[in-house]
Amino acid sequence: MSITNERPAKRAVFKGFYRNLNGEPDRYLTSVERGTPGGDFHRRFWQPVAYERELLKVPLRVRALGEDLVVFKNLKGEVGCLHLQCCHRNSSLEFGILTDEGIRCCYHGREYATDGACIDIPGDPNAERIMQQVNQGGYPTEVYSGIVFIYMGPPENIPVFPMLDRFDLSGVRNVPGIRLNVDCNWLQMKENAVDPHHTATLHMIPQMRGVTKDTFAGEFGVSPELTWVETPNGCIYLGVRKVDDMVWVRSAEIVYPNIHTISSIVESGRVAKYSSAPFITLWTLPIDSEHSVQFYLSHYIDGGMSPEQRAPLEQFGQFHNDRPYGDRQWIPGDVDAQESQGAISVHELEQLGTLDRGVTMFRKMIRRGIEAVANGENPPHGFYLSPADVPPTYANDYVVPVSEAGIDANDPAALRAFSLKVWEKYQERSPMQDYREKSHNGR
Ligand code: FES
Ligand SMILES: [Fe+2]
Repeated sequence: MSITNERPAKRAVFKGFYRNLNGEPDRYLTSVERGTPGGDFHRRFWQPVAYERELLKVPLRVRALGEDLVVFKNLKGEVGCLHLQCCHRNSSLEFGILTDEGIRCCYHGREYATDGACIDIPGDPNAERIMQQVNQGGYPTEVYSGIVFIYMGPPENIPVFPMLDRFDLSGVRNVPGIRLNVDCNWLQMKENAVDPHHTATLHMIPQMRGVTKDTFAGEFGVSPELTWVETPNGCIYLGVRKVDDMVWVRSAEIVYPNIHTISSIVESGRVAKYSSAPFITLWTLPIDSEHSVQFYLSHYIDGGMSPEQRAPLEQFGQFHNDRPYGDRQWIPGDVDAQESQGAISVHELEQLGTLDRGVTMFRKMIRRGIEAVANGENPPHGFYLSPADVPPTYANDYVVPVSEAGIDANDPAALRAFSLKVWEKYQERSPMQDYREKSHNGR
């Protein structure tokens, strides 16, 4: 892996024969299965596994971090998540019967509570003793805004569910979305979120093909000047553009390791603002090392776009085989770019450019997190033991007239320096603090 930011002296032509095609993914960063360093790391965070509306009269079979699980609501409405295979003789609990307390295996009727304790063994004369000895293995659950999360790590050190500052704004409703299944490693999903470089190409292809409805605003077609900074939660990019006589600083944030949050993709950067409303927050569940699924909350603003208007914007090109192959070739979406990198992108074969600095930074931070867990520490970002510890978020659109910015807005370096000044301002007054106060004031 190398950064190439200098123009080669000579054009390299017809090098196919010499190009190295052998390489390996960085499995330290990409593995999520039990017993791997990455698997231990991911088990320290809340992982989304289902939408609450999917929990019906029969259990739901899911897979998370390479483990097969069953998620269900008992007849009292409590949510449980247990290993899929019954601890008696391994029948699958996806065929289980829901009970008042939990779930009963379909084969010989062992009943398990939502925490995995065995609470009934029908007909066995030694049931009381055996119930003390066996355990189905359960994981703590948390339901937030219609999404079911589980915690698969050591139960002695459970973090709080990270309630972000953008989840409880007046005039903003959180609405659960749909499953966005993608057949590739989780890292590729999140790298996309620190890589706004791709927006000016991939997300402008619809316009290039003559499609103007349900797409990113055309202003995203101007490649922004980019910087990236670490935040208490993870990292953001700062993408700054001059739009007519305005300077527009856009940021999106990854809350480590599996959440990213953005503001509107139809923002055009033409109206002055300090803060913008949240648009969507997505959690990526690594199903295993080669499959992922995104769960999301749409943040609906009173009087803003309707669900019907939002759905195409949110879902286009976002899940496996969302359209016929020919359509995807003509206008590819994120999913086509991500899956075609390979089930696990072969990092050794990458030839990175200057604008991949965000991706590099993100990987370094993930590596630090994995190393911290391997050393017996808590993850340095995104892991909080108290609600008060959850830091502000910094995904935002900050728009100001050039005259107010006081810079030469045609100078890329001045634009980048200005975006860092905006980041400094955010330390004094975070975007959601501003948004909250303005909406309370009715402005
Ligand atoms: S296999 Fe589940 S009770 Fe026997
Ligand atoms: Fe994208």
